[in-house]
Amino acid sequence: MTAHIISGTQLSQQIRADVTQRAAALSAQGKQPGLAVILVGENPASQVYVRNKVKACEDCGFYSVLEKYEAELSEAALLAHIDRLNQDPKINGILVQLPLPAHIDANKVIEAIAADKDVDGFHISNAGLLMTGQPLFRPCTPYGVMKMLESINYPVRGANAVVVGASNIVGKPQAMLLLQAGATVTICNSKTRDLGYHTRNADILVVATGKRNIVTADMVKPGAVVLDVGMNRDDEGKLCGDVDFANVKEVAGYITPVPGGVGPMTITMLLVNTIEAAERT
Ligand code: GUN
Repeated sequence: MTAHIISGTQLSQQIRADVTQRAAALSAQGKQPGLAVILVGENPASQVYVRNKVKACEDCGFYSVLEKYEAELSEAALLAHIDRLNQDPKINGILVQLPLPAHIDANKVIEAIAADKDVDGFHISNAGLLMTGQPLFRPCTPYGVMKMLESINYPVRGANAVVVGASNIVGKPQAMLLLQAGATVTICNSKTRDLGYHTRNADILVVATGKRNIVTADMVKPGAVVLDVGMNRDDEGKLCGDVDFANVKEVAGYITPVPGGVGPMTITMLLVNTIEAAERT
C-alpha cells in the first residue's frame, strides 16, 4: 500500500490563514507584528531561505526587515546590530540566518538575541525552557514536524520515535518535543553503528541528516510515519530529502515529500512564533 502524503504546503496554508487574521487583529491595535532577519555573507541557500521568510511575513501582514551584511562584517558590529533590534519596539522577533562566517562565534551571537525575541528558539535560555518542559519558543522545524503529526491525529503518546540527526537546530529539540508528547525517543547520530536496527523499530521516524537516501525502504517499519527534514539535490539538480521517497512510500503509512513537506512548515512556525511574541507584548 502506498503511504498517505502529509502536505506541508496545505497545512501551512491553513496555519498561515490563522496567523494572518491574528496579525490583522494586532495591527488594528497598533501592534503590527515585526520580524527582523539578518543575513551575513552570500551563502546561496541562505539567500533563498531568508527571501522566503521575509516574503511569508509580508504575505501575512507582518512588518519585516531584512538586514544583509557582507561576509567581512565583524562580530562586534553584528552584536551591535542585534542590540539595536533588541531595543526596537517594532521588532518582536529576531532571526540570524545560520551558518555564519567562520570568524563569527554563532553561539555568542545567538546568546546576544533577547530571549523573548528569539523566534528561532535557539537561545540557551529557550533550549533550557524546552528541556524542562516549559517552552517559550519551540525551534521552527521540529515544531512544524509536531504540527504535521497533530494534523493526522497521530497518537504520539507511547509511540516509538526515532530521530536521525542530533543537531541543536533540529535533532535535539525534536527529541525533546517528542519526549514531552509522551513518545519513547531514540536519537541516532553520525556514529550510530547499525542505523537500520533503530529505524526499523520506529513508529515515528524523523530524518534530519543532510545525507540523501540515508533511509531506504528496508529500514522502515511497515505503516510508520516518516518525516523528512532533508534538503538535498539529486543528480539532476532537483530538490530531494534524506529519505528514498520513491521506495519508502511503498512501506510507510504516512510520509512527507520534499519539496512541499517539512520545508514550508519551518517558515510557517517562524510566523507562529513571531505572532505569539507579538501577542505577549
Ligand atoms: N539555518 C538553517 N535552518 C535555520 C533555521 O531554522 N534558523 C536559522 N536562523 N538559520 C537556519
